[in-house]
Amino acid sequence: MSTGIRVAAVEDIPEGEGLKIDKSVTGTADDIALLHDTDGSIWALDDTCLHGDASLSEGWVEDGCVECPLHTSRFCLSDGKVQGLPATEDQKPHRVEVRDGEVYLFPG
Ligand code: FES
Repeated sequence: MSTGIRVAAVEDIPEGEGLKIDKSVTGTADDIALLHDTDGSIWALDDTCLHGDASLSEGWVEDGCVECPLHTSRFCLSDGKVQGLPATEDQKPHRVEVRDGEVYLFPG
């Protein structure tokens, strides 16, 4: 059974912010945005906003959503569902686990 790919330490990602992990590390089609919600939970979505190529890891994370830094569409952290215009496409979610302060990614 896979133990996941160690991609960061929790302390590398301030609450309310994101961290981009290059696809050369994760083996995924897109870079990955690790997103640290204000409740302390960590989530992962494809990094490149499908609306206009912005990096979601540079967005604002709050209350279960990340807000795209370019046009402010919000995406649900748990499933990547778009919450409002102008974006219309969902972001692909990926599973993460936190063990001993380390973040492990299970690319979806
Ligand atoms: Fe993300 Fe436009 S680039 S909402």
